[in-house]
Formats: sequence, structure tokens, C-alpha cells
Amino acid sequence: MKYKLNFVDTELEKIKQNNLYRKLRYGQAQGAHITINHKKLLNLCSNDYLGIPTTKIQIKQLQSSSRLVSGNDESYKKLEDILAKHKSQKSSLVYPTGYMANLGAISTIAKKGDLILSDELNHASIIESCKLSDAKISIYKHNDMDDLRNKIKHNGKNKFVITEGVFSMDGDFASLDQIVEISEKINAITVVDDAHGDFAVGKDGKGTPDHFGVARKIDLYVSSLSKGLGSFGGYVASQNNVVDLCINKSKSFIYTSALPSFLVEYSLKRFESNREKQRKRLESNVKQLSKGLNQIGYEINSNTHIIPIIIGGEKAAVKFGEFLFENGVFAQPIRYPTVPKNQARLRISVTSWLSHKDIERTLEILDKAHKKFM
Ligand SMILES: Cc1ncc(COP(=O)(O)O)c(C=O)c1O
Repeated sequence: MKYKLNFVDTELEKIKQNNLYRKLRYGQAQGAHITINHKKLLNLCSNDYLGIPTTKIQIKQLQSSSRLVSGNDESYKKLEDILAKHKSQKSSLVYPTGYMANLGAISTIAKKGDLILSDELNHASIIESCKLSDAKISIYKHNDMDDLRNKIKHNGKNKFVITEGVFSMDGDFASLDQIVEISEKINAITVVDDAHGDFAVGKDGKGTPDHFGVARKIDLYVSSLSKGLGSFGGYVASQNNVVDLCINKSKSFIYTSALPSFLVEYSLKRFESNREKQRKRLESNVKQLSKGLNQIGYEINSNTHIIPIIIGGEKAAVKFGEFLFENGVFAQPIRYPTVPKNQARLRISVTSWLSHKDIERTLEILDKAHKKFM
């Protein structure tokens, strides 16, 4: 009898042939390091940007239900009030993950007959959420304001401009000051997914819109608690009625179990810690690493804590990553479809866990890699 799942092997083989095969690696993160196969490496690919020291929390009985049933622990109210204020919005709503927050919120507010303008480098969760919405989707060139100005003229009942704040794989800022100006002119709704800018940039870590002085002009925020804050979960922040509609309509909020309350408590603890001290340390680490990379001769176009080293070919990027691994630095090669074909890269992320000595050591290894590969 024919093996029914043969096509799976065929597909996997194709992925391997294109140097796009991914496999899981088990590791244990501790501070600036990660241990993989008994090898202790400097961790240059964590999104725990602030590196807030771990705090102890009590693990209570899990809610084992969705929030609209019996899963709505009291701690949610406190966290959601804090997050709304943090984003200069009226309300916020916590989802189990940032991915689910995007899926839930965007598909709730954008509908058939609407027009969504989405940056070409937006994250997969934004792309999926736009598809779920049934709205017409128009992709504008990455951070290209002329292209946005042209495409925003197309017909649509409600118009939405959706962008990341700090782009996750490129580390550049969206031009939010201009995006807000363009949107305001035609009353378009501005949605910012600030998963990577939140807690890490702007005054008090208020995020990318605050960095551009437009925090109050954003209509809907989506973000993650699993990156800068180093906790877990996702959230949206907006006007009361938008949050209310999400509670009533967004499927990734309604039809799933609530994030365990100990993680909500964990976010609260981390929010109340000395985040500003960690943020200043992050800024100083970013400066040191960027300056060192420029001195080595790397072409760096990012001015944030996400610093991609563009390699190009997928195979070469894997080899580059392996060399770093052998020499004690963990930075995963990022390949298609996460980034466009032939734009494979090492996505270096800076955290406050790293000491200046750790960064010096990283730079020594990256210097060796530059001589060997670039
Ligand atoms: C831009 C962006 N949005 C959303 C997400 C999803 O966030 P979470 O990890 O909380 O699901 C990510 C995750 O990498 C991201 O990069």
C-alpha cells in the first residue's frame, strides 16, 4: 500500500535542497549565556532586551478556562490598567501571545470593503491577520512614504495603515511621524505593532511612537510582553470601544484558555522593576556593539538593539552562524521566508544581560568571522 504521507518527505527534501531546513535546538538560557549541547555560548539572539533579573513569583492554581468564562484572574485588571497608561490609551487587553493579539485585533476591526495598507516587511502575524480580515490588502514598499501616499488613495470604506514600530529583522524604525501625518490627512486608522520597540525605546520604554512624539496619535497598538519586558503574553491598547469589541468578537481572545495568572503577575513584577536602569544599559551596549561592528568593517544600517548582518545566500549564512557557534557566540541565521530570498542574515540582538566584556569578546569573534567570510 502506498505510504500516505510520502509528500511530506518530498517537501522536506525540497526545503533541505534550498538550504532552508530548520531544526530545533535545545538550550538553557542563563543571563548573557545559553548552554547548548553542554557548550556555553554568549547569547546574541534573545529578545529579552532589557535583561531584567529574574524575580520569584508564586505559582497559583491555573484558571483552566478562557477569560470570558472563569479565567479572568484579578491580576489582569491591574496589568491592563498599567499597559493602557504605558501606551497613552484608554484601555488595553492581554492576549496569550503577541501573535494572537495581532490575529484577534486586526481581524476584528478591519472588514470586507476596507483597505489595509501594510508595510512589505511586516511580521507574519500581521500578514495572517490581514488575510483573516477579508479587507483589501495593499502592500507598500518598506517604509516608503511616497508609495504609501500613492496607495492610500485607493478605495476603501475604512482605511488602515499597519506597520511595525521597530522592524523585527532589520532593526530600523518605521517613520511613524510621517505615517501618522499621512493617515491623519485622510482619516486613516494607524495600527502599530511595537513588539520590538516596546519597553526598549522611547521615554521610560514607552515604545517607538513615543520615540517619535506621536504616542497619542496611534489608534491601535499591538505588542508583546515576551520581548523587551522578558515576560510572556501579548496585548493591544486602544480606545475603550475597540477593546470592548475585541472582547466580544476576537476569536483568538474568546476561544482559547487565559494566559496563566502567574505570568500576568510576572509581567507586573517586571513592569514595576527598575526598567529605566536596564534600558540605559541596553543603550550603552547597543552603542558599544554598533561602534565595534563599524570599526571591523560591517555595514550596519540599524540604529536599534536589533542589528542584522546581511550575508545574502542561505548556505553562506548557515556557515557564518556555525562559525560563530564554534567560537562561542550564538546568533541564528535568519532565512527565507522570514526574510526575502538571498537576503539571509545573522540577526544580532543586543540585551542588557551582556557586560562590556561580553561585547568585546563578541566583537573579537565577529572580527574573525569578517576576515573569513566577508
Ligand atoms: C513584529 C512582531 N509582532 C508580533 C510577534 C509575536 O509576538 P509573540 O512572540 O508575543 O507571539 C512577533 C514575534 O516575534 C514580532 O516580531
